[in-house]
Amino acid sequence: MGDAVVILVAAGRGERLGLEVPKAFAWVAGRPLIVHAAASAFESPEVGSVIVAVPPGSEDEARRALEPFGPCDVVVGGETRQASVRAALGSGAASSEILVCHDAARPFASPALFGAVIGAVAGADGAVPVLPFVDTVKRVRDGFVTGTESRDELVVVQTPQAFRAEALRESHARAERDGVELTDDAGALERAGYRVAAVPGEASNFKITTPEDLARAEAIASELARG
Ligand code: C5P
Repeated sequence: MGDAVVILVAAGRGERLGLEVPKAFAWVAGRPLIVHAAASAFESPEVGSVIVAVPPGSEDEARRALEPFGPCDVVVGGETRQASVRAALGSGAASSEILVCHDAARPFASPALFGAVIGAVAGADGAVPVLPFVDTVKRVRDGFVTGTESRDELVVVQTPQAFRAEALRESHARAERDGVELTDDAGALERAGYRVAAVPGEASNFKITTPEDLARAEAIASELARG
């Protein structure tokens, strides 16, 4: 077992899913999303423990669900994803030199992907999984196309994202001080001038947002189970 600590952000309400339960507690292939994500993290030999940020009131449920898989600390998340990461950074359990931020809403990140981003931090301050951008990208204003972007350097970014703990803490503190809200953690490092490496992502590692995504996740889970 390695000593990287995974911050699993699971405090989103997931209103677009239209379920009674918070998104991370929605079930796919026989277990909640949060369990898929944590189980995969713990299967990675580089990972030692998990800190999970959950909505208020879900702490016991999260603890019961995750404790069988490995050492786990539970914190109450915040109003935004960034605030949830900050809450986890405030836990005494976030004591490793490598911290990995991962969306609980991505049930299919493989253990190898955790290993790949953690390994890539050796040569950078952070590392993120990316996929090539395959569609043509245009700008649209007031219903009319105003231009076409070159997609050569564009990628789609996933989690897990691994960081040197000190760089993650410093750039989150800076984003908070500047009142900047970001949709991923690498964004905080980029604006603070840190180097973030890109490693190949995984097509099946998509984020569950809509009810259609849950259906797609069931299909992928049965494919993966078949090998
Ligand atoms: O809402 P979205 O799908 O972008 O959220 C990405 C991840 O961040 C999810 O796993 C969600 O649970 C988490 N999140 C959080 N706290 C929030 C909002 C989102 O932990 N306030």
